[in-house]
Amino acid sequence: MTQASTLPKIQPSTQRDQLKLVIVGHVDHGKSTLVGRLLHDTQSLPDGKVEAILASCKKRGMPFEWSFLMDALQTERDQGITIDTTQIWLKTPSRDVVIIDAPGHKEFLKNMITGASQADAALVLIDAKEGIREQSRRHGYLLQMLGVKQIAVIVNKMDMVDYGEGVFRQIERDYREYLGGLGVEPLCFIPVSAREGDCMSGPSEHMTWYKGPAVTKMLEKFEVAAPADHLPLRFPVQDVYKFDERRIIVGRIETGKLKVGDTIIFSPTNTQVKVASIEAWPPGKPVTQLSAGQSVGITLEDQIFVERGHVASHTENSPMVTNIFRARIFWLGHKPLELQKRYKIKLATTEILAEVKTIEHVINSDTLARVKADRVERGNVAEVVFRMRGLTAVDDFNANPKLGRFVIVQDYDVAGGGIISTEGFFDQRCADSRQVKSKNIFDVDFGVGPEHRALVNGHNGGILWFTGLSGSGKSTLAKQLQRRLFDKGYQVVCLDGDMVRKGLNRDLGFSPEDRSENIRRVSEMAALMAQAGMIVIASFISPYREDRRNARSIAPDYFHNIYIKASLGACEKRDTKGLYKQAREGKLKEFTGISAPYEEPQNPDLVIDTDISSVDDGVNTLVHYVEHQLVDPVKNMAIEGSGDYAGTGI
Ligand code: ADX
Repeated sequence: MTQASTLPKIQPSTQRDQLKLVIVGHVDHGKSTLVGRLLHDTQSLPDGKVEAILASCKKRGMPFEWSFLMDALQTERDQGITIDTTQIWLKTPSRDVVIIDAPGHKEFLKNMITGASQADAALVLIDAKEGIREQSRRHGYLLQMLGVKQIAVIVNKMDMVDYGEGVFRQIERDYREYLGGLGVEPLCFIPVSAREGDCMSGPSEHMTWYKGPAVTKMLEKFEVAAPADHLPLRFPVQDVYKFDERRIIVGRIETGKLKVGDTIIFSPTNTQVKVASIEAWPPGKPVTQLSAGQSVGITLEDQIFVERGHVASHTENSPMVTNIFRARIFWLGHKPLELQKRYKIKLATTEILAEVKTIEHVINSDTLARVKADRVERGNVAEVVFRMRGLTAVDDFNANPKLGRFVIVQDYDVAGGGIISTEGFFDQRCADSRQVKSKNIFDVDFGVGPEHRALVNGHNGGILWFTGLSGSGKSTLAKQLQRRLFDKGYQVVCLDGDMVRKGLNRDLGFSPEDRSENIRRVSEMAALMAQAGMIVIASFISPYREDRRNARSIAPDYFHNIYIKASLGACEKRDTKGLYKQAREGKLKEFTGISAPYEEPQNPDLVIDTDISSVDDGVNTLVHYVEHQLVDPVKNMAIEGSGDYAGTGI
């Protein structure tokens, strides 16, 4: 068995260029042999390594194979002997080459989409005998998608086709045509026999017709990407440590530079602050400037709220803040990715739930055909719009790959990855009405408290939030409930979508963002009314759980989530406003239940199922609920005697 000490362990030197290379190809197309041979031809193997394997082959009566080198390396990895389990280093005269995704690394595709490291260049391996396979095309597609622009195509096993130029040229033509369709132009095609050593490190006597560079020459020719510090600053927060009085914001500078004294802005919270210090470890010479690739801790001049997932940038060139984006994704999940389902997305240090809002089309990475579908099967690429649970900092992949790429998690495993396009979406950084813009705002006590009003009215204020599909019976129940409560002498008022959308919210439509804003404004209004002692019946479809949660958080003591439940079939049959018909005919876009989602309440305070109960029964249940929740507590308060109110003369 091979000894650990004999394995290649070349340390990257700091003075030389480092090229990050990815080698892709069908498993049988000779990837291990190619890398084994490259290690040898670039003299990147320790002395005696090949001899040891030769001896071992002889002992077992097996012919020598270059791929045995890789097997030996893999064995070590499996046993955890080598520290670095994913990378192999080669040395060329002018630079170090690190092969990310070594052969035998089963997680190849996954690694590529997670972007564990961004490759500068790629070798695409094609078997001369087999020709272009579906996987060759798929790999080409992935490289293009992930922005690896420098590609050399290695046509291997030329010895198996008698070093025939015709075979090589045919493959070159076909693959050039495919890549051309993607807008990718490979730098060169090299005919090789990795096993025999043809065109690996110099010209081959078997292929005098080939005048281009050998593989090792190409490794010298690829350009190494400039360090990421010329891009705008992106510092995703990994953690916040509390040290004595100070809080240290910890993370990695993904791109750009950062200095002490810089004014930075955190996204998505949109708060500006100055950098007070850079905390270097171990402590020593003070550090005043950082650049891309460094993991650091910083302290801030003001103690603002910062948590994992937030991203610091400079005030100019900050990332986009949005809850919606379009992405080109590559799906590897065992179950298909489905429309309207929710998935966990990991983007830099953020983890957030996102719903698949639309699947614009699925792209067959083999034929490049685009088809409409409501699911993405394993191995396919698709263009998808995601709507996230909250605002998040993102970048367009072309502008900044670090914040422009994400992975999708399914059942605790990376099941896909994608790159973001922000085109056509607007930055919600300043449009976020959830933020308080005004400064110097104070709480005012106007002297008449809720308990005073409750005693006069005979009930507490409250918000009966009716959520449910259009046509579920919200307005019908609201109208009759209002009448019953009014007749009992209670202070009651109705608010509903059709009413506020003509006035207060006339600027809003039915996109997810507009619906959120609709619900936010209405719940603020309902809260004011409830604080003024009223029973507010608020009937809004409010299809998104997050919006209802926000509505509750505005007035948690007053809020009652009442689900007016009805099956979609029943609502469509009723179709009192004729809207379902229009939606089915495609005349009404983003209609809840048909072309926009409705997220059922998971834990409502009360459910009225209008599929099974009559209007009268429903109203009776509601009246009973109101008496119990809002009237009885006041009766008890009056009996026990509320000190404050008695005798104030109001
Ligand atoms: S919500 O989703 O933002 O809560 P809201 O309750 O205010 O909706 O408004 C719903 C009412 O708007 C429906 O009763 C219907 O009359 C009308 N409407 C018009 N277009 C749509 C649509 N695309 N989806 C849902 N309701 C619509």
